[in-house]
Amino acid sequence: MPDVFLNCSYASVCSGCDWLLKPLTEQRSLKMAHLRSVWRQAPDHLGFATAGPGSSRDRIDFMIADGRYGLFDRFKTGLVDLQGCPQLSPALEAFFQDFRGFKFPISRGSVRLRVSPTGKRGVWLDFANIDVKTLLDDGQILRELLASGAIVEIGQRRKRLVEREGRLKLDDPVLEPWFETYVEGVATPLYCTIGSFTQPGFRVNRMLIEEVMSLVPMRGGRVAEFGAGIGNFTLPLAARFAAVDAYEVDTLALEGLEHVKPANVTIHSGNYQGDKALGLQFADADCLLVDPPRSGLMKFIEPVATAQKLIYVSCFAESFAADSDRLHDFGFRVEKATIVDQFPQSRHYEIVASFIKD
Ligand SMILES: C[S@@+](CC[C@H](N)C(=O)[O-])C[C@H]1O[C@@H](n2cnc3c(N)ncnc32)[C@H](O)[C@@H]1O
Repeated sequence: MPDVFLNCSYASVCSGCDWLLKPLTEQRSLKMAHLRSVWRQAPDHLGFATAGPGSSRDRIDFMIADGRYGLFDRFKTGLVDLQGCPQLSPALEAFFQDFRGFKFPISRGSVRLRVSPTGKRGVWLDFANIDVKTLLDDGQILRELLASGAIVEIGQRRKRLVEREGRLKLDDPVLEPWFETYVEGVATPLYCTIGSFTQPGFRVNRMLIEEVMSLVPMRGGRVAEFGAGIGNFTLPLAARFAAVDAYEVDTLALEGLEHVKPANVTIHSGNYQGDKALGLQFADADCLLVDPPRSGLMKFIEPVATAQKLIYVSCFAESFAADSDRLHDFGFRVEKATIVDQFPQSRHYEIVASFIKD
């Protein structure tokens, strides 16, 4: 891999990308070294997949504070007022530039901008209730935002901003095709809110799905999936297996999954890191796919012991390594492991590993 740097004029001040001053080759070595340092079962060969140094994010979270739109500076003393960011896809960068033209009269708040696969623009304003009330009462800036064609969500409950009979109102959340997955290479819409969890961008997500699905059998009877979310892996799995059991806890994610679920997917809703996991059996499953939150599998590791083959996707090496120790005790060995570099220019990375019982 050539020594590639991402050209960013904020490299020395912005805290968003803590490894921006390191070439990609060094970032790759450091990520591999970190994974090896925490993971006892790391195989001799670790794969590394990258989509390049930047331009891959289709959603961005940032802050507004005292008229600045950006991320904390490296000393956390205030915000760097970002005029742009080379991590963003061209469509998101154009949206960010336009959004900067809306001057919100608030002292502090969080914003997410998202673009959909078809180029639709979404804004999630996570502001204090008092600021939301002021913006609704005044109306002007929110009306201008709506008039620009953006879809607007407000607050932790992701209420949808609408204008009805000349009045601004907050409706229940609306799920739309903000994201996509790839079923045997074909882009397929996924439904969620602007504020929902998705992978950070379409290009890196495609890379992640290709890596995961390269480890999954081409066809089979039953597969089970922990942390199904809005169906990012569920739909590709459903195209290969007669039956998919999908386990998920988040209410809005479950709604999105319900929206796209083919007939061969059974959704199991609830906290499967807790006691609900105990007693599940995967002995008859051809394969198990787990994509847990940072905390790892917790009690879901118990039924994993009944499976023969497991694919583990993780964004947090420490909990992954602890779960891997347990898998080792259950008789699993590592078949293949790859770092999928979803977060270039930062210390974060995604791990995709397959385990099998001999
Ligand atoms: C890293 S995300 C992965 C989502 C999805 N696989 C994707 O690629 O977009 C982890 C998922 O695990 C779900 N989750 C978190 N805690 C859970 C629990 N206790 N039981 C079931 N699912 C849980 C989250 O809601 C989230 O959808």
